[in-house]
Amino acid sequence: MFAPMTKTHALLLGAAGMALAVVVVGLFVLLQPMFNSGTSGLSGQVRSSGTALVGGPFSLTDHTGKPVTEKTFLGKYMLVYFGYTYCPDVCPGELQVVAAALDELGDKANQIQPVFITVDPERDTAKHMAEYVEHFHDRLIGLTGTAEQIAQAAKAFRVYYAKVDDPDSTEYLMDHSSIVFLMGPDGSYLAYFAYGTKPDEMARKLAQHLG
Ligand code: NI
Repeated sequence: MFAPMTKTHALLLGAAGMALAVVVVGLFVLLQPMFNSGTSGLSGQVRSSGTALVGGPFSLTDHTGKPVTEKTFLGKYMLVYFGYTYCPDVCPGELQVVAAALDELGDKANQIQPVFITVDPERDTAKHMAEYVEHFHDRLIGLTGTAEQIAQAAKAFRVYYAKVDDPDSTEYLMDHSSIVFLMGPDGSYLAYFAYGTKPDEMARKLAQHLG
């Protein structure tokens, strides 16, 4: 019934197939962040693809002056957020979301260690971090370190930060990514919460991971 395919037809079909494949893969890559934040059913896929990308060794100092590494937090889920105490709005807002989500989880929240890592070690001393974290949650741990240690930790979590110099002031702002990461008790990456996630949504997704 069909005429045998000419060489040209086969080539055209092949090219069309390739183009379709490129479009499908491209769409998947583009939409993946949406799956991650919106569709819990696909979290398994996101989990496996993100495992190697986020997290890793770090060596820092907690707000009591005690040295800590990623191993310090093994055995507990860890909710990690990078920011700085002089941040005018984004950081305090996000830490309030984390605190509210933990409150919403009740006793289950005891499985989670919330951690705030500064991207501004120059001003955020351990003492300064101690005064800051207590405003948000009684179990929130603040971490600081040398500039090199902070750079290493931020690199492990793929967090971007940069000092924004203001020629008119001795003060400065830090530009930084605002993402909350959930790490598993074995230190592996489980999920992230984009800026703007509401406390009840965060609590609901956390509960799914806690089981
Ligand atoms: Ni901030």
